[in-house]
Amino acid sequence: MSDNTELEAHLAEQDSFDPPASFVEQANVSDPGIYEEFEQNWPDCWERAADLLDWNEPYDQVLDDSDPPFYEWFTGGELNASANCIDRHLDERGDEVAIEWIGEPVDEANRTYTYRDLYEEVNEFAAALRELGVGEDDVVTMYMPMIPELPIAMLACARIGAPHSVVFAGFSAEALATRMESADSEYLVTCDGYYRRGDPLDHLGKANEGLDSVGHDVESVVVDRLGDDGFDHGLSDSQHDYDELVDEQAGTEVDPVSRDAEDMLFLMYTSGTTGQPKGVKHTTGGYLSWVTWTSRAVLDVKPEDTYFCPADIGWITGHSYIVYGPLALGTTTMMYEGTPDYPERDRMWEIVDEYDATQFYTAPTAIRAFMKWGAEYPERHDLSSLRLLGTVGEPINPRAWKWYYKHVGDEACPIVDTWWQTETGGMMVTGLPGVSTMKPGSAGKPLPGVDARVVNMDGDPVEGGQAGYLTVNRPWPGMLRTLYKNDERFVEEYWATYSDTDSTDSEDWVYFPEDGAKIDDDGYITVLGRVDDVVNVSGHRLGTMEIESAIVGVEGVAEAAVVGGEHDVKGEAVYAYVILEDGYDGTEEMREEIVEGVEDAIGPIARPEAVVFTPELPKTRSGKIMRRLLEDIANDEELGDTSTLRNPDVVEDIRVTVQD
Ligand code: WT7
Repeated sequence: MSDNTELEAHLAEQDSFDPPASFVEQANVSDPGIYEEFEQNWPDCWERAADLLDWNEPYDQVLDDSDPPFYEWFTGGELNASANCIDRHLDERGDEVAIEWIGEPVDEANRTYTYRDLYEEVNEFAAALRELGVGEDDVVTMYMPMIPELPIAMLACARIGAPHSVVFAGFSAEALATRMESADSEYLVTCDGYYRRGDPLDHLGKANEGLDSVGHDVESVVVDRLGDDGFDHGLSDSQHDYDELVDEQAGTEVDPVSRDAEDMLFLMYTSGTTGQPKGVKHTTGGYLSWVTWTSRAVLDVKPEDTYFCPADIGWITGHSYIVYGPLALGTTTMMYEGTPDYPERDRMWEIVDEYDATQFYTAPTAIRAFMKWGAEYPERHDLSSLRLLGTVGEPINPRAWKWYYKHVGDEACPIVDTWWQTETGGMMVTGLPGVSTMKPGSAGKPLPGVDARVVNMDGDPVEGGQAGYLTVNRPWPGMLRTLYKNDERFVEEYWATYSDTDSTDSEDWVYFPEDGAKIDDDGYITVLGRVDDVVNVSGHRLGTMEIESAIVGVEGVAEAAVVGGEHDVKGEAVYAYVILEDGYDGTEEMREEIVEGVEDAIGPIARPEAVVFTPELPKTRSGKIMRRLLEDIANDEELGDTSTLRNPDVVEDIRVTVQD
């Protein structure tokens, strides 16, 4: 006991950790010279990433930067992502497990797909999609929870050169419709439902509701996930049963289509500062090289591993680091359908123990929840198979970092705190686990070959110890190429702030991720959070404008302002300040209607933690809502500058309401 207390105290004081020697010995990357080597050899250093893939046609140029910011990578090269994730592993690893699926009901629903199984089903479904009419470059939408048919559908699309657009299953019918409309997507793959905490949940009802508001015809494929537990929707003429389609194609093989390196692999919608979600476009050559390289260098994935990332494939983390990166490396990737506390709070550790997972990559929000539940849960299990831990999605506080390091990693696993975004495709700022000293709370240095900086408003780097804005000053292969059918918004959102937009010299172009950050004297970067109107709830990005327009859509609401307030577990939570129209009262029913309105428009993740009815919102003299002040109120902090307010008294009024 006293040993343990001493250890905790020692751990609490320690602010840097060297990678464990046992890890370094076996790491995929362990030579510190890699930073200098990449610097000297840029951009050709990225051949190292591209060479991890099989190309049908070799590329003739690593980077074409003649028309910034419309960069092109590995030009002239041709490849297929599905062949890289499956076919090329068949000879050596055909009987090894590709996907280990842990489903619900607990212990009954698990399924194992070897690389050969995956090959067969992906081919059959690819043939079925073609039969339905899906052609090269047609966008196929997927609206599915964590079931194996989701990655199978993604890989089947990749095989026939049809970009996929996965919409998170927790999003609402309306969110589905908006994304299908925006992508002109005429195909949908979905399912009847899924299980949550042992109970069947209707999903097709929601999908149908979404389809009703899509203005064009849609052919859909429906996976029968619930069997006898299913809900009675039936299938319309344009809806096809997944199993029937696949059975009809039993044994069919489909030649993987040779795709140009710059051809779109997928679209992923993400939130921004306007109400309209942005369709981030990722490519076949650059994206796949990037996620494969970072899975190898940062997550230290090896073919014989059992790699576990309990994220959802509906978000970019799942695309890059459950599906594409791990499968391109021929490893076993796990998929988890359930929640971390069902049937008990040791569910994650039970799985790690049972399957001998070698890596565990999750979000700080989950780690904070684990920490709250207590060390007794990980202590129930043998976690010694773990070799590496990772975090992604939001800043992690040093205390949670140390808890993770000690109670999950047993002080024997390096932790990689990985900063990246939907737009970057894969990791950008993080340590190399076999090389870098770790500092809890800081993501670390930019990866070799990545030029990320912390700058002031003029774009000049700040001194060590100071805060500023994060920028990326050189292109990278995994970068988004544009926003779907909206080049103008692409330039405006990500480049205009720090670039000379009249220049055709790539040196004058700087990518702005819209994050604030600080840097220390060793060049370690701590990402502080978004500087735009975006809230990060449990590592999920939500636009305040989207939520506000949902609230204003509720009858009786005149005006709304949404900000992120600090939250113990979620990191940030949604706080909504609402002005009602005359004749409406801030009743409990009204509050419920607002919460429901948000759930209908976006989904339960956007659910406001607090709805504050107020007669007025703090505004500048020019009428702009002062969000900073609302954030301070939400966080119960000392109020910042109120001198420019048109209506300073309102702040105190709101504050009193919140405290009530
Ligand atoms: C935003 C991107 C990356 C996949 C999941 C989220 C925040 C991400 C970190 C980190 C601090 C982080 C940033 C970023 N973020 N990783 N390690 N430390 N903040 O993808 O929805 O595109 O959100 O998440 O604010 O801009 P996303």
